[in-house]
Amino acid sequence: MEGADHHFVNSWIIICTISILLQSQITEAAGPPVDHCQRKCGSTEIPYPFGMSKGCYLDETFEIRCNHSTGSAWIAQLNWQVDAISLSTHTLRRKDFIVESLPEIAKPGETWHHSFGIFTFNRHYSISHTRNMFIAVGCDIYVYIVDEKTSEFQGGCASLCRSTLAPIWSCSGLNCCQINLPKDLTALTMWIETMNTHTKDRCRFFTFIEKDFLGLNKTKFSACNQTYVVPVIFEWSVGNTSCDKAMDYVCGQNTECVDYSPGKGYRCKCSNGYRGNPYLPHGCQDIDECANQKDNDCPIKHRCLNIEGGYFCLPSRRHMFAELFPIGNI
Ligand SMILES: *[C@@H]1O[C@H](CO)[C@@H](O)[C@H](O)[C@H]1NC(C)=O
Ligand SMILES: *[C@@H]1O[C@H](CO)[C@@H](O)[C@H](O)[C@H]1NC(C)=O
Ligand SMILES: *[C@@H]1O[C@H](CO)[C@@H](O)[C@H](O)[C@H]1NC(C)=O
Ligand SMILES: *[C@@H]1O[C@H](CO)[C@@H](O)[C@H](O)[C@H]1NC(C)=O
Repeated sequence: MEGADHHFVNSWIIICTISILLQSQITEAAGPPVDHCQRKCGSTEIPYPFGMSKGCYLDETFEIRCNHSTGSAWIAQLNWQVDAISLSTHTLRRKDFIVESLPEIAKPGETWHHSFGIFTFNRHYSISHTRNMFIAVGCDIYVYIVDEKTSEFQGGCASLCRSTLAPIWSCSGLNCCQINLPKDLTALTMWIETMNTHTKDRCRFFTFIEKDFLGLNKTKFSACNQTYVVPVIFEWSVGNTSCDKAMDYVCGQNTECVDYSPGKGYRCKCSNGYRGNPYLPHGCQDIDECANQKDNDCPIKHRCLNIEGGYFCLPSRRHMFAELFPIGNI
């Protein structure tokens, strides 16, 4: 009896101590006045650090220009049309990535190459390796990509001709083929070589493209002299340096900072037990795990006690009463 009694009191003290420790971590982080900012352009959410007017974005890199008549959002500095800006995955979709076209390669066995420089387009935006692929549209070609740093092959595909224009949405080797992007590739050269068959005047295009893009079958890529655009997923980050060196540290309360290596900078995420916008000073709010049974794993006959950043499972009230005042001791 004594033992159980002590055990309970001890765990109560621990709970209180943890709460106090968590409370005392709260410090004031400086942040912009973002209360009255408009956060929607058309149907596109514009979460901070992005914003549409001064004081609403973190810095000019994240300024969004909204065309209110069309409801389209643009990254002002780069003049990219974007939608689907995500805080949880730190991505955005650029809708108007320009497809490159090849000069006509007439003879079989001719090669042609194009350097894509770097994946990082400016210090805050880089092409996602996981959410995009590389495609070549056209036929009688094989295509391969080479890592510019190591000069090693990173992938390749071949595309054959079919007398009628094959549907390209499946992009699996007839009039179109695809290459997955290897991780850590920062700069690539794409090589195209013609094969020996019947190409006359078909156009050839190549581009990065969002993997799940369903509009491929609406884009016919038929006119060689036309400019086509496709969606590409970009990753974004903030800051100029890693978390520990950042002079411009912007992560709010209850957050973790994660270095972001493909670009230069870092990213903020809410600590476990919190959710919200980690870029706002008080954006990450405690999740009340007890309010929703899915958020806690307290066994039956236990009580869920929510605390900052977590929760405890306590023996049920009746149980606890028995532990506090063991019958016979009163
Ligand atoms: C908005 O988009 C329309 C249609 O593309 C264009 O005519 C107009 O100039 C744009 N407005 C601004 C302010 O960019
Ligand atoms: C477009 O592609 C989808 C598969 O992604 C296919 O089911 C559909 O039939 C295609 N539509 C046309 C018009 O080709
Ligand atoms: C594209 O080429 C076609 C015929 O080859 C021509 O009629 C058309 O004017 C060209 N379009 C542009 C924008 O150059
Ligand atoms: C980050 O780098 C950019 C460009 O080099 C510079 O303009 C900006 O002032 C830097 N920001 C901070 C907070 O150091």
